[in-house]
This record gives sequence, C-alpha cells and structure tokens, in this order.
Amino acid sequence: MKVNGGATKANGTLQGHMLPEITIRRARPGDIPDIARIEQESFPDPWDAAVLAETLALLPETFFVATAGGRVAGFVAGGLEDTGEEVYGHICNIAVDPVFRKRGIARRLVAREEQQFAVSLATGIQLEVRVSNTPAQAFYRRLGYRPVFCIAGYYANGEDAVVMMKWFG
Ligand SMILES: CC(C)(COP(=O)(O)OP(=O)(O)OC[C@H]1O[C@@H](n2cnc3c(N)ncnc32)[C@H](O)[C@@H]1OP(=O)(O)O)[C@@H](O)C(=O)NCCC(=O)NCCS
Repeated sequence: MKVNGGATKANGTLQGHMLPEITIRRARPGDIPDIARIEQESFPDPWDAAVLAETLALLPETFFVATAGGRVAGFVAGGLEDTGEEVYGHICNIAVDPVFRKRGIARRLVAREEQQFAVSLATGIQLEVRVSNTPAQAFYRRLGYRPVFCIAGYYANGEDAVVMMKWFG
C-alpha cells in the first residue's frame, strides 16, 4: 500500500521519521469509503459501508477519524447510553489502518471519544471485544480499561465477548 508519495517502506510499514501530522476530527460522509477499507482490513466480520454510513448518520457527534497528512488513518465510533439512572459512553467500533498502527493514533481517538462522553456527563465507558482479540484487550488495558464480565455467544460466529469498562473521576 502506498502512503503519501514514498512514506512507506517496500513492506508497507511507515518509516518513523516520516509519519505525517495526525489530526483528529469528526467523521464526514465522504470518509466512509476510507473507513470501510480500514474496517475490511481490520476485522474478520467487518461492518459494510452502508452500516458505517448509517452509524455516522445516527451518531455524528461521537464518530471521529484520525487523518495522517490528510488521509484517513483510523476511526472510532461510539454512542451515549442512558439507563435512566446513569449515562455512559459505549465504544462501538475502532480500527487503525495497519500501516499506521503502534504510533499512538488509537490512543488519541479514544481520548477524543472520552472527552466527548465526559462533556455529556457520562460516568464511564463500556466496550465489547472478542475473547480471541488479545491485542485489542492489551491496548484497552494500556488505556485504563478493565474486564468486568463476559457475554456468551455475543458475536455472529458464536464467540464470547469480554466487556471492558473505564470509569471517570
Ligand atoms: C487495537 C488498535 C485499534 C490499536 O491501534 P494503535 O493505533 O496501534 O494503538 P496505539 O498506538 O494508540 O497504542 C496505544 C497503547 O496500546 C498499546 N498497544 C497497541 N496495540 C497493541 C497490541 N497489539 N498489543 C499490545 N499492546 C498494544 C501500545 O503499545 C500503546 O501503549 P504505550 O503507549 O504504553 O506504548 C489496532 O491494533 C487495530 O486497529 N486493531 C484491529 C481492530 C481491532 O481489533 N479493534 C478493536 C476491536 S474491540
């Protein structure tokens, strides 16, 4: 995959000193093809472009992209949930282009999402992750999320989900 005229090595990884400027902003409908490509490259059961577009239409305040030199390098989609007793944020989907991983982009996307949840007076954040997705669990642990329980058969292929949470305050 080529990135910004020569910012990649032959094997497709970025050279550290050439990482373009990273910006976090709200996603736009025109970002959906790039988001869908990253989704395809990141998950065994990717959301299709229509589902991503519908999510953006429903939850535009909590759908962010990271751009690197103007190109979409990752995204996070979330939403607020109000149980009547408390409000909490839900991270529904996050992925970073494989070329741009391990450079702090997802950390920045989650931080932006957390800020958005905090201004909406959420008391905490919840997410689900596949039991087999130990790299993502390690990532969330680094950001202060902790496993709280499992949901049996949560995913379409029958795999269990680990529910992880982080509380504000
Ligand atoms: C999980 C994912 C979003 C992380 O994105 P990223 O931009 O590479 O993550 P960051 O560079 O911001 O990493 C933040 C921290 O998590 C750690 N981390 C990131 N990926 C990790 C991994 N695979 N294993 C262990 N730790 C990891 C980093 O070392 C970093 O910690 P540090 O700052 O203390 O060094 C990315 O690997 C991805 O898109 N995976 C596929 C999609 C996916 O599984 N999404 C989650 C579904 S619930």
